[in-house]
Amino acid sequence: MDPARLRRSIPSALATAAVTALAIAIAAVAFEDRAAPHPSPHGHAHATPGAQSVADLTGPRDGVPDVRFELTARQSQVVLDSGFSTDGLTFNGTAPGPELRVRAGQLVEVVLRNADVAEGVTLHWHGLDVPNAEDGVAGVTQDAVPPGGEHLYRFRPEQIGSFWYHTHQDSAGTVHRGLYGALVVEPPGGAAGPDVVLLGHSWLRPGADPVVAIGTGDGPSRRDVAPGTRVRARLVNTDSRTQTWAVVGAPFTVAAIDGTDVNGPTPLHGEQLRVPAGGRIDVEFTAPGTVVLDRGPAVGFGQDPLPAPADGPVFDPLGYGAPAPVPFHAAGPFDRELTQVLDTVRTIRRGVPNVTWTINGELHPPAAPVAEGELVRVRIRNDGDDAHPMHLHGHHVLVLSRNGVPASGSPWWADTVGVEPGEEFEVAFRADNPGIWMDHCHNLAHAAAGMVMHLSYEGVSTPFTVGTGAGNTPE
Ligand code: C2O
Ligand code: CU
Repeated sequence: MDPARLRRSIPSALATAAVTALAIAIAAVAFEDRAAPHPSPHGHAHATPGAQSVADLTGPRDGVPDVRFELTARQSQVVLDSGFSTDGLTFNGTAPGPELRVRAGQLVEVVLRNADVAEGVTLHWHGLDVPNAEDGVAGVTQDAVPPGGEHLYRFRPEQIGSFWYHTHQDSAGTVHRGLYGALVVEPPGGAAGPDVVLLGHSWLRPGADPVVAIGTGDGPSRRDVAPGTRVRARLVNTDSRTQTWAVVGAPFTVAAIDGTDVNGPTPLHGEQLRVPAGGRIDVEFTAPGTVVLDRGPAVGFGQDPLPAPADGPVFDPLGYGAPAPVPFHAAGPFDRELTQVLDTVRTIRRGVPNVTWTINGELHPPAAPVAEGELVRVRIRNDGDDAHPMHLHGHHVLVLSRNGVPASGSPWWADTVGVEPGEEFEVAFRADNPGIWMDHCHNLAHAAAGMVMHLSYEGVSTPFTVGTGAGNTPE
């Protein structure tokens, strides 16, 4: 089959062909890279095309790890604090899995084992810009770990902040069924004060509304926080839809977004915090106070949980906090420009109305080439009817503007940009982490339907293949 024709056959292409399309798209890109290397317009030194394999772009292979974790994925019953239980998938018997806390600069080693998850498992460190071979994307940076298998990850995190981990094999199903957990990188001296991760997650029930829960990981207990204590709560959206969080009963600040501290955060009172799927917001407040998710589950700090808040205004990061130096500016110049037009496409499939989501009119559009060292600007526009939380692996992007309004507060670094219908973002990043990186919607059903592309560094190829034949279906 001609891959170009296949890629162009959207929107009539069926989602069932999507996995094959991705395999072909990656193969085609690798081929194009070999056949016609793109010269770097600005003369940045970069490797000869074909010279680097994803498999060689590892974290430190030598050295005794400072911290080591073992995570075993298996089918098991998931039991929530509320008593709700369901057949699910767990790491080390719980969902969310164990909270991983490390310190910046430590050499981290994680052994992943798959007991019996038939779909296969990987570990992706969402928001942590690890070397490419440690990124955990089945078919791109490794093979999915089959039942009975294991895989070793090693990296030395330098970003201090809130992250999470999840499997990246059949992720639309397996993340929602429980294969996820919190990852916190503390400063070298450790965290100050009560510091708790709150992971918002919806558990599906057949024929009923999902059960929304705040998985609390292994954080300290919360009612026993003494009044007057400064608390940091790390809010993580592990769902596929936008979550709305709030802090009730105390003024608070937004201390960090997507693992990057806000500069000069100012007090907020009752604002609603919209966290895109995959995104994180850290809040700080002085106990007593209550954190509420979607007007439902709540966690009280230094008190019993307070009831859900009245609707406050929606928090907007675009102008929040104080400006600070950034390594590049909205005015450019940029070495490369990318555009992503996101859309909702309605089709009739075997007589049944169907909906799918496209990037630049395509499912699994071809990879975007980039050369190491380049400064890249991306325009992301949502022409569709659904929110699309766009997540670029391996890099943080700086938000330059939204709907033409320049960012004016603390530098807004994001790894997951929630693009609402009608919105247009301009973001920029430095291509400083060679590899082949997924760039996809973190509504994982959208990703599974084909809302996935890749950023592909010139000269880097992958020995892994996506496709059911290879057992690698990352979405
Ligand atoms: Cu949180 Cu590609 O994923
Ligand atoms: Cu989407």
